[in-house]
Amino acid sequence: MTTQIKDLNHYKEIYAQSVKDPEGFWKKEAESFIWFEPFDKVCEWSFKGPDVKWFLNGKTNITYNCIDRHLIDRADQVAILWEPNESDREAKSITYQELHDEVCRCANGLKSLGVQKGDRVVFYMPMVPELAIGVLACARIGAVHSVVFAGFSAQALADRVDDAEAKIIICSDYNKRGAKNIAVKDVVDEAMNIGCNSVTNVLVHKNTGEKVDWSDDVDLWWHDVVDNQGSMCKAEEMDSEDMLFILYTSGSTGKPKGVVHTVGGYMLYTCFSFRNVFQYKEGDIYWCTADIGWITGHSYIVYGPLLAGATTMMFEGVPTYPDAGRFWEICEKHKVNQFYTAPTAIRALMSKGDEWPEKYDLSSIKVLGTVGEPINEEAWHWYDQKIGKGKAPIVDTWWQTETGGIMITPLPGITDTKPTYASYPMPGIQPVLVDAEGNVLEGNDIEGLLCIKHPWPSMLRTTYGDHDRCKNVYFSAFEDMYFTGDGARKDAEGRIRVIGRVDDVINVSGHRMGTAEVENAINEHPNVVESAVVGYPHDIKGQGIYAYVISQDKDLDDDFKKEILEVVKKEIGPIAKPDKIQFTSGLPKTRSGKIMRRILRKIASNDTSNLGDTSTLLNPDVVDDLIKGAEAV
Ligand code: WT7
Repeated sequence: MTTQIKDLNHYKEIYAQSVKDPEGFWKKEAESFIWFEPFDKVCEWSFKGPDVKWFLNGKTNITYNCIDRHLIDRADQVAILWEPNESDREAKSITYQELHDEVCRCANGLKSLGVQKGDRVVFYMPMVPELAIGVLACARIGAVHSVVFAGFSAQALADRVDDAEAKIIICSDYNKRGAKNIAVKDVVDEAMNIGCNSVTNVLVHKNTGEKVDWSDDVDLWWHDVVDNQGSMCKAEEMDSEDMLFILYTSGSTGKPKGVVHTVGGYMLYTCFSFRNVFQYKEGDIYWCTADIGWITGHSYIVYGPLLAGATTMMFEGVPTYPDAGRFWEICEKHKVNQFYTAPTAIRALMSKGDEWPEKYDLSSIKVLGTVGEPINEEAWHWYDQKIGKGKAPIVDTWWQTETGGIMITPLPGITDTKPTYASYPMPGIQPVLVDAEGNVLEGNDIEGLLCIKHPWPSMLRTTYGDHDRCKNVYFSAFEDMYFTGDGARKDAEGRIRVIGRVDDVINVSGHRMGTAEVENAINEHPNVVESAVVGYPHDIKGQGIYAYVISQDKDLDDDFKKEILEVVKKEIGPIAKPDKIQFTSGLPKTRSGKIMRRILRKIASNDTSNLGDTSTLLNPDVVDDLIKGAEAV
């Protein structure tokens, strides 16, 4: 197993070592895995290409390390503990042996459909065990999985399937989420009508058993394809740098990009970070509430915990169903030891009152984690006091889809914690703050742009099908550094606080959204001439979506607003629906025609005392109109 840091001195010692001799440090950690053939070089890199390789020529299979290696000493231990949407339905336990057999059956099933190493398989599924099994089955045979969050629209699904040129879509019939019953297969059918020409089969897992439309040419039932397969399937020999998965995420321009992670480095880093950040101990029950449709679910529900031989819980439902006590009821019921969730969930549950957590015994909780967005002080203290009873350290973990694993975080019981601070870099991670020109800011008590100056094993390798985009977005802003897109500050003792995005990306309930993407969706409405989208502070969501819309020939009323929301829902999904829409006759623009988003952000945030110099605008008059208009939104 990878090293588990014991105390502060140990952290300091291995951090220093990881900076002084990164290759030596990671070599030793990597040797704790099972390699079919050993790697002959630890790392080869240039951020110019970028061209980054870890554990060169090493051959392995991540599922062999997630499952097979544990069969000697933990075959009967629960690998995945599944808690259903309805609290009166029974939880399911899948042991490591059962997981092995299920993954192999599914892998054999995929093979029978002609899926081969390198083929892409898209998942559009609720949080059922078959999602984790399917993902692992792909990794078993070397197929590349791309999980699409099941809240995205048919259009968004089709866009991703087309970009990945996926061969198979795996979905469920329906998805029970809270009180809703979502017709998942219908969405897939619609996506198949819009695009998805590369798809040969849709594999449907029977989840609720309700009736679905069926197309005999492409649709197949999971149980028909998988259930009669054998429970042995050789783990494909994968090169360290073979693709493991693609995960689409939003950027400041254009359509979402497919972030590519590869086998070896991702395997090492998710295991190493999981064991250290959560201080997982034998027998612990670990629960991350994320959806596997996001990177958090990939790294810290599926791969990291299983690599570490942990018991990882998967929850099908939502925090407020059947009531606002559900999370805490589950913590009590399964005696959860590590609990990992998002600030938006904490804020939402905090707003429902202390009586909910007070009803349940939360004494099993040893570590609390947060991820996805900055946590505000009030929520931090509530989490600390009402959930952790002041006894469970909070790990405020900063990372990104692109980083593959947690980069900056306290280590529970090892380093100190400070509200709203992600604090300290993980071993092997070298964060720096730079100014707008890329000069590295030295010392403490500084604020700047967050960059990483040395490669780490689980960093993205490319954006699928468009390597230039990867270069431009992450490696062109500053020479020889990975640019995160975040602004951050360091306190007097050097703890890092990540403030938020400095690009045109907003973070709504921990979901990352490109403003351009939402604008493009709004512009699909035939009566919209132009739009501009910005984020504004939102009590529960962190950031809300504020849309300025220019239209002619249309009544600027609530019905029009509803139509706009419908278009966004259709193009992207309900998570991208603007919270506020303001109709306007113009947008503040520079003489070169660029929208001055800074002004729009201030107006949306009701912070108009200091708008800066607006005299250089092409249309300075529009600013007052916008301020007046905002009062009525
Ligand atoms: C962006 C990445 C990686 C997990 C889920 C989100 C923001 C993430 C924190 C944190 C402040 C955070 C950043 C980052 N973010 N964690 N602890 N404190 N901000 O992944 O969708 O790739 O979004 O989320 O702005 O760049 P993602």
